[in-house]
Amino acid sequence: MALIEIKGLYKSFGKSEILNDINLDMEEGKVMALIGPTGSGKTTLLRHIDTLDQPTRGSIFFHGEDICRLSSKEKFLVRRRMAMVFQKPVMFNRSVYENVSYGLKVRSKENSRDDVLHTLDEVGLTGYESRSATTLSGGEMQRIALARAMVIKPEVLLLDEPTANLDQKSASAIDDLIERLAHGGTTVIIASHNMTECRRLANRFAILVNGKITRTGRPNDIQLDRGQYIGFLESIDPSDKT
Ligand SMILES: Nc1ncnc2c1ncn2[C@@H]1O[C@H](COP(=O)(O)OP(=O)(O)O)[C@@H](O)[C@H]1O
Ligand SMILES: [Mg+2]
Repeated sequence: MALIEIKGLYKSFGKSEILNDINLDMEEGKVMALIGPTGSGKTTLLRHIDTLDQPTRGSIFFHGEDICRLSSKEKFLVRRRMAMVFQKPVMFNRSVYENVSYGLKVRSKENSRDDVLHTLDEVGLTGYESRSATTLSGGEMQRIALARAMVIKPEVLLLDEPTANLDQKSASAIDDLIERLAHGGTTVIIASHNMTECRRLANRFAILVNGKITRTGRPNDIQLDRGQYIGFLESIDPSDKT
């Protein structure tokens, strides 16, 4: 049994159908990439897995249990076992240390100084503990957002375009981190429209276009250079050339 099984998932906001019959299995300890142009529904799908959105119809099974049918209180407990990193990291106007330990606090876990310091070390920010988080660079903030997620040791890590707003160097440092996490056995679901990143990190990919999965496979099935990639995206959505 896959760790997460999505079956016949639909989501409409008003009259627009945003997710249309999504069926997808995600294996434990693997990295799944959701690839698709802007507006295809990647963030919405991640939010459903994180129980933040309720589908119009369909199910998401986590350890065999349909998490779309749970009470708010039960969903809250499921959410504690997952961590989502949003595209634009949100920093509190506090120290780096407090920004990372926040993840433990909201989950009422023991606020272990060792865990926080160890995680800061893992993301390469040792010595930053007392720095003000809001004064850091975009790449550093994204590393803190990742540290905040990692410190709780989630079963599932949901990453929403974690490198989209970063320069090449910071982006590749974040990818190194994700790669290490994946080797450590964390189940990772990454939304991205960076094909190189997906090929490097993912064991499986699913291509999402207008709320529908048009293709799934292994990264080697999408051996495209950048030019071909743009052509490929154009072939699925003429509006997206990023
Ligand atoms: N809360 C919402 N209400 C109405 N429309 C929404 C809402 N959230 C997302 N959408 C719409 O759903 C579509 C998919 O959005 P999103 O999941 O953010 O796509 P992606 O992350 O792939 O760019 C977009 O057209 C967006 O405007
Ligand atoms: Mg998005």
